Amino acid sequence: MPLLEIRDLVVRYGEIEALRGVSLSVARGQVVTLLGANGAGKSTTLRAISGLTKPASGEILFEGKSIAGLGPEAIVRMGISHVPEGRRVFPGLTVKENIMLGASNRRVRKAELSREADAMFELFPDIRKFADSLGWTLSGGQLQMVAVARGLMAKPRLLLLDEPSLGLAPVIVQAVFRIISEIRRTTTVLLVEQNARMGLSVADTGYVLETGRIVLGGQPDELWGNEAIAAAYLGGHARVRA
Ligand SMILES: Nc1ncnc2c1ncn2[C@@H]1O[C@H](COP(=O)(O)OP(=O)(O)OP(=O)(O)O)[C@@H](O)[C@H]1O
Ligand SMILES: [Mg+2]
Repeated sequence: MPLLEIRDLVVRYGEIEALRGVSLSVARGQVVTLLGANGAGKSTTLRAISGLTKPASGEILFEGKSIAGLGPEAIVRMGISHVPEGRRVFPGLTVKENIMLGASNRRVRKAELSREADAMFELFPDIRKFADSLGWTLSGGQLQMVAVARGLMAKPRLLLLDEPSLGLAPVIVQAVFRIISEIRRTTTVLLVEQNARMGLSVADTGYVLETGRIVLGGQPDELWGNEAIAAAYLGGHARVRA
C-alpha cells in the first residue's frame, strides 16, 4: 500500500477548476516530485493533502485511510507536515523558537523540544548562529532552511515541500537539495518544483501537472527520455531553471 494515494482529485476555487481529476501515489521512503508551470495546480495539490483546501471530489488516502475533508490540525496529527510556498518565519521570535513551533502537533516537554531544535542545526548549520537572536536578518535561503526545519520538527511521516528553491541563487539551491537528500533517509517527501532538473535529481518518481491534470508520470529517466515532454516541460523552456 502506498503511503499516500490520490485518486481523481477535483478542487475548485469558485468557477476555477484548479485540479481536474488528479491521481498520483507516493510510496513509503520515496521522494516524489511534482513539476509544472505557474498555475498548474501544484500548490493546490499540497493544500488539498494538508487539509487547507477542501476537495470537491476524489479520494486522498494516507496509509489507506481517507483524509479528504479532514481539517489541517487532524492531518498534521496523522503525520503530514506542509512547508508552504513563501517562507513564513515570525520576526518576533528567535530562529530556534520559530523551529520549535513546528512541533505543536506533538506532546513533548519543552526541554526535549529544545534539544530536538538544537539537533536541527546539525542539518542546517548555516542558521545555527541565529538560533537565539531576536532581530535577525536572514537571506532567502536561510529563511527556507528555518521553514524546512520547522516542518521536520513535526516528525512527519510525509513532508510536503512547496518550491523550496524558489528565488534562491544556484549555490543555495544546491544546499537546499543537499538537505533534501539528507531528509530522504528518514522521511517520505512530496516535493513541488518548477526547477525540473533539480527536482528530478532527487526524485524516485516524477509527475508533470498541466492545468490541473497529470500529463505524465514515471521514473526520472523515463521522463527525460520522453523527447516531446522533455522539450516541453523539462528543458530548453523559459520556466525551467537548470
Ligand atoms: N485562493 C484561490 N482563489 C482562486 N483561485 C486560486 C486560488 N489559489 C489558486 N488559484 C488558481 O488555481 C490554479 C492553480 O493554482 P496553484 O497555486 O495550485 O498553482 P501552482 O502550480 O502552485 O502555481 P505556482 O507555480 O505559480 O505556485 C491557478 O489557476 C490559480 O490562479
Ligand atoms: Mg504554487
